[in-house]
This record gives sequence, C-alpha cells and structure tokens, in this order.
Amino acid sequence: MTAARKTLLAATLCLLAFSTAGHAQTASQETANAPFTPMLGQEGKDVIWVPTPQELVDLMLDMAELKPDDTLVDLGSGDGRTVISAAQRGIRAHGIEYNPDMVALSNSAARTAGVADRVSFKQADIFESDFSSASVVTLFLLPNLNVKLRPTLLAMKPGTRVISNAFTMGDWEPDEVGETSKNCASYCKAYKWVIPANVQGTWTLNNGTLTLNQTYQKLDGTLNDGKTEHEVQEGRVLGTQVTFRANNQNYSATLNGGTLQGFLNGTTPFIATRAGTQR
Ligand SMILES: C[S@@+](CC[C@H](N)C(=O)[O-])C[C@H]1O[C@@H](n2cnc3c(N)ncnc32)[C@H](O)[C@@H]1O
Repeated sequence: MTAARKTLLAATLCLLAFSTAGHAQTASQETANAPFTPMLGQEGKDVIWVPTPQELVDLMLDMAELKPDDTLVDLGSGDGRTVISAAQRGIRAHGIEYNPDMVALSNSAARTAGVADRVSFKQADIFESDFSSASVVTLFLLPNLNVKLRPTLLAMKPGTRVISNAFTMGDWEPDEVGETSKNCASYCKAYKWVIPANVQGTWTLNNGTLTLNQTYQKLDGTLNDGKTEHEVQEGRVLGTQVTFRANNQNYSATLNGGTLQGFLNGTTPFIATRAGTQR
C-alpha cells in the first residue's frame, strides 16, 4: 500500500469512528429490500470512497469560477455530491464513477435535489472515458492517479479549470490553493490548475524575436530586439493569457490562433506571430 493510500485510509477510519457508528451495511450486504448505503472506505477501482466535505465542495466550485456555459465533470464521482452541487449553481455536470451502486445513488440524489435535468452519471473507468468536452474537472483521487491523468488534462482546451481535493499533480505546480476550516476535519485543501495554451516556440514581433520555453504554465526564454538579447522573466500562461517581463517592460497578451496580441506596459499595443506563420 502506498503512503498516500495509507493516509487516505487512516483519515477514512478516523471519519468512520465518529460518523458511521450505525452503518452495519456494506455494498456486498445489499439486499433487494434494503436500499444501498455507501460505506466510508469502501473499495473503488483505483481508490476507496471518501466523500469531499460539503464545505470543500463549495470552495472547489467557488475556485472554479463557474460561468453559465460551463460543463463540469467529476472524476470518480462517488455519491454525486460535487456534480449535484455544481448543477445547483445552474451549470450542466457529469459524474464518472466505477461503482454502479454509487451511480444509482447519485441519480436518485439528483432527482431528490431537483437537478436531474442538468446532470448525468456514467458507470465507467475514468481512464477509459473521454471527458475532453468538459470545461471544469474536479477530482479527489490520489497523487499517482493525478499524475497519470496529467497528460489528458494538459491536452484539454486552454482555460479549462482543474480542481483537486487534497492531492497535487507532481511537478505541475497549482495556480491557486484554497483551504476551508469551517466544519472540515480532514481533506480541507483544494488545488486549482488552469490548462495553459501552448505558446512554446519562436515569435516574430515588429522589432524583434521572442523565444519562449514553456514548462506547464511557466515561461522563460529571450526577447531579442535586434541589438540586445533580454531574458524573459516571470513568464506565465493562464489559459490563453500570457504575461512576462523583459528589458524591464511588462508584456501581457492573449493567444488567438497563431497570434499573441496584447499590450506593452498596459498601453502600447503589440502583436507577435509564430515564426513560420503567414501574417
Ligand atoms: C475519494 S472518492 C471521491 C468521491 C467524490 N469525487 C467526492 O469528492 O466526494 C473516489 C471515488 O472514485 C471512484 N473510483 C476509483 N477508481 C475509479 C476509476 N478508475 N474510475 C471511476 N471511478 C473510480 C471510487 O469508487 C470513489 O467513489
């Protein structure tokens, strides 16, 4: 058992001690006349079930900065609470969950909450599912599973928000960290990443050449103005927004197709075109 799995299990047992004293039933004990009752710590395919505390669900949805046209997917959706909470904020939301009993429970909870028309749940393996059309991804898995999902997440549309309960993404640093202490005993921290556009490469400006090296959302490189080569500093990509400093000047731009269009020091317009692209 990995250290992360042990941590998850230990916290689960803690939660169990004070919240499930009366839970005698497990999935395997389900009978036709007794409704399924989920059990904290029950086996999932790649990770056990521990629900995100509602306060953290709410914080994660705040961090997602939901817009009316967003579609959220929760990877390993458990009892459906994140999906249902997102739908209660007016957006469409989808859960992918391996355990069919949890899927049935989620559908029933969505009907009770009056949001069944905006949600869907699918019994499936997240690693064999296509969720590329989502604009917000939430997850509460394990560090190694997050890292396994990382290439799929990075291939999603720039600007997609990824919010993880408790676990990070290896060497891909989060863009934001949030924490709640309200009614939250464990798993009270969430991490957010905004899928960065790919701006790696050489760009042609009116009066020079910009070379960007990209590692996730971080940029370095050089700006050559024909006379001097200046270091690119504090370079960041947030979705399609690109910011950096060079030669003591602040550059901010938006990627639009093959063009970076923006302002120097907030006032002077500039356009950069990918080298090799027709203007
Ligand atoms: C820690 S729980 C989180 C549940 C829910 N997202 C929440 O935050 O309350 C992880 C969930 O992922 C499910 N799961 C584990 N491996 C999975 C896989 N490969 N595909 C789909 N679901 C999976 C488990 O059954 C469990 O319900």
